[in-house]
Amino acid sequence: MERIDLVIELYRLRREARERRPELLCDFPLATNVVKAILRNCKKRQVRENAVADVFEDVKQDCERAVKLGIKEGEVKGRLIALMAMMNLFLGEGDMKRVQEIVQLICRLPAGPVSALPAKDYNNAIRLLGKKRYLKGVFAILDLMRVSSVIPDNETFEFLANATVRQVEFVTGAVSMDTLPQPVGAEVAFVGRSNVGKSSLVNMICNRKALAYVSGRPGKTQQFNYFLVNSKDENSQFYIVDLPGVGYAEVPQPVQDEWMQFMAQYFRHRTSLRLVFHLVDGRHGALADDESLMRQMATSERRVNEYIIVLTKMDKLDKQKVKQSILDKTWAALIRNGCSGDTPIVLTSSASRLGRDEMWRHLQAALPGI
Ligand code: GTP
Ligand code: MG
Repeated sequence: MERIDLVIELYRLRREARERRPELLCDFPLATNVVKAILRNCKKRQVRENAVADVFEDVKQDCERAVKLGIKEGEVKGRLIALMAMMNLFLGEGDMKRVQEIVQLICRLPAGPVSALPAKDYNNAIRLLGKKRYLKGVFAILDLMRVSSVIPDNETFEFLANATVRQVEFVTGAVSMDTLPQPVGAEVAFVGRSNVGKSSLVNMICNRKALAYVSGRPGKTQQFNYFLVNSKDENSQFYIVDLPGVGYAEVPQPVQDEWMQFMAQYFRHRTSLRLVFHLVDGRHGALADDESLMRQMATSERRVNEYIIVLTKMDKLDKQKVKQSILDKTWAALIRNGCSGDTPIVLTSSASRLGRDEMWRHLQAALPGI
């Protein structure tokens, strides 16, 4: 008998014994090691598949039973480590069905700060899941980090951006409805006053340094700048549109009026538009131009699926009290102009990179392909 056959046989006996004595728990680290040994050493395809299925079934049953009986958070950590390791093994095999099942198991366990792992473990999972383009899994791990109070770091976002934005390229600058590019599945617009930080935020969420032109001189972006994300994949491609800043005094009034008219037509007729991020300078809150944009969004004939306020440059505000008063003022402005009181408000800074995960959550919710 080969050593690996012996391992398989021993695990099978152990499992049988456990079936007779349900109070015995599955040994997750052992199960992971056995899966590893089978995948590495078992040459016969059918034997290998049956053996893996057997161990994996054991793990699944244990998780289900644990969830049903109310497992304590303190007992989750060991399972989590083993499940992540097992997920990596299946990712290596390209066995995405089992990877998906493991992600589901992980999501059902009662995670929290007590069961938290180091950030690098989650980052690694995000990297590997991203490489396989399993974005639901990527976001599930991000959620897990959140409930476990693990703060995402630069690496988390690098891997997240690698997973979500494989390629991104400037496509065209549109100046009127008939110069807009042919729609792809979906598009997302960044609007707001001039100099509010639109281009900087586009760069931040794409994790690119100089994709959209950032300028100290307001009024720099004078056209609808179209960036195509994931051009090689029809299912996940979408446009990011960096709109010209509104309300900058040095741009002649007739030109500003033209932009506003174009923008109104765009919101009304561009049916592929899924999401509008309206950027508002966090230091000042909504100004007159912002309020008119809010009114436009509230009264537009065709409601865009998602309208989100993004407060920018929050790194320049240090006091919590000031932040709260800007938030209150923004909500008041939204309601005053006919927008829903539930309109999400995201706090961001391209300088400190605050808000990257929340921006991505909104993108993911609005774009089914990613
Ligand atoms: P227009 O294209 O002119 O409408 O401007 P924009 O909204 O695209 O703004 P842009 O990203 O070009 O940024 C304008 C200025 O604000 C630049 O000097 C940026 O470096 C600065 N800036 C943008 N975001 C932030 C931020 O989060 N924090 C700080 N401190 N500065 C920022
Ligand atoms: Mg710009």
